[in-house]
Amino acid sequence: MKHLLDIGVLTPDDLHHLMALTDHMVEVNQRPIPKVPALRGKTVVNLFFENSTRTLTSFDTAARRLSADVMNFAVSSSSVNKGESLRDTIETISAMGVDAFVVRHKSSGAPMQVTKWTNASVVNAGDGWHQHPTQALLDCYTIRTHLNRRTGFDGLHIAIVGDIKHSRVARSNVQAFTALGAHVTLVAPPTLLPPAVETWPVTVSHDLDSLIAKVDVLYLLRMQRERMVDALVPSLREYTGAYGLTPLRAARLRPHALVMHPGPMNRGVEMAVDPSELPGSMVLHQVTNGVAVRMAVLFELLGSGADLATSA
Ligand code: CP
Repeated sequence: MKHLLDIGVLTPDDLHHLMALTDHMVEVNQRPIPKVPALRGKTVVNLFFENSTRTLTSFDTAARRLSADVMNFAVSSSSVNKGESLRDTIETISAMGVDAFVVRHKSSGAPMQVTKWTNASVVNAGDGWHQHPTQALLDCYTIRTHLNRRTGFDGLHIAIVGDIKHSRVARSNVQAFTALGAHVTLVAPPTLLPPAVETWPVTVSHDLDSLIAKVDVLYLLRMQRERMVDALVPSLREYTGAYGLTPLRAARLRPHALVMHPGPMNRGVEMAVDPSELPGSMVLHQVTNGVAVRMAVLFELLGSGADLATSA
């Protein structure tokens, strides 16, 4: 694997392989000194043209735990603000000697474009509405671990609720969850569903209350107000009333059901309970697993033959 741009190109075997590699990274992260020399001498550049808390810091942590050198490119203080193009930015940084670019961009397809301007590996850290492959991997890993599903997701029912239309997480997760065998239901008002949703391998519902007591995983999405150009819901209060996780709905979840959210959360909108009070909340486990999954991805792309047993 040279690049990770799109979760949809990975086979179920590829997904299982990356999750097995993540098991090793979890073990590394539990050591007193959570660091291995696997990527010593490699340089990873985090190039984020959109804001991020979780993805940026976890790629940074992941690369350092594998002993890579890390450059965090600060777009706001760079020559991008003087009109430098994405191509010139990539070619300039590549000329310094780079092994991997981790790219987040508001335009769908930007990480794919980057692969044409560098010999380095490229990881898509979220592009527009399109893809967020490492989020899908960490979500699969979290479900695999917490529902003890090491061999696959056959028989699992996962509901993804909310702003599907603008969500790269929904697109990536539907592909990964269904590839592993889960049944996925998208739950949203018609205005927040994507065009041609009937071609997706899912069922669609507009009625969260009829489903909530049946699902194994309730995956809530953020209302992406920054990507909405029209008024797609009458009001956030009405949205919460129909699709938010309220205390009444939380009380109807099955005892083993997981509640997941990629973050950042809109508290009081889609997450109308305190997730720290939900026994099944995976919100912080997802963040923890994000570091190990991103270590696995960087190791897979850059670390062939390196040793994970030795501490740095
Ligand atoms: N889930 C996710 O991509 O979060 P950030 O935007 O904080 O990276």
